[in-house]
Amino acid sequence: MSASARPEAQAPLADPNGSFEIEIASSGLIIEVAPGQSAVDALAAAGIDVPVSCEQGICGTCVTMVIAGEPDHRDMFLSAEDRAANDLFTPCCSRAISRRLVLDL
Ligand code: FES
Repeated sequence: MSASARPEAQAPLADPNGSFEIEIASSGLIIEVAPGQSAVDALAAAGIDVPVSCEQGICGTCVTMVIAGEPDHRDMFLSAEDRAANDLFTPCCSRAISRRLVLDL
């Protein structure tokens, strides 16, 4: 599945703290993450529980694989190399630069 086949995952988000979408790769379910809501909370509200511990971007417990889209990394766990690879996301605290993130869930 190439990123170019996912134009909605490439469109930039106008407001870095605004709402964005998470697409669940296994089901195609699309979940809206509201402003002020964490991705973990939005996923939980949709019945998808991601394991968490610190919920502050420190421990890495919540790390999830990204299939398409660009995360806005707000954690202190991922290395610069991890961030540059653009394939990991910490849903407890991070948001999105692209309108949609497709997660390997
Ligand atoms: S729960 Fe600790 S980094 Fe997300």
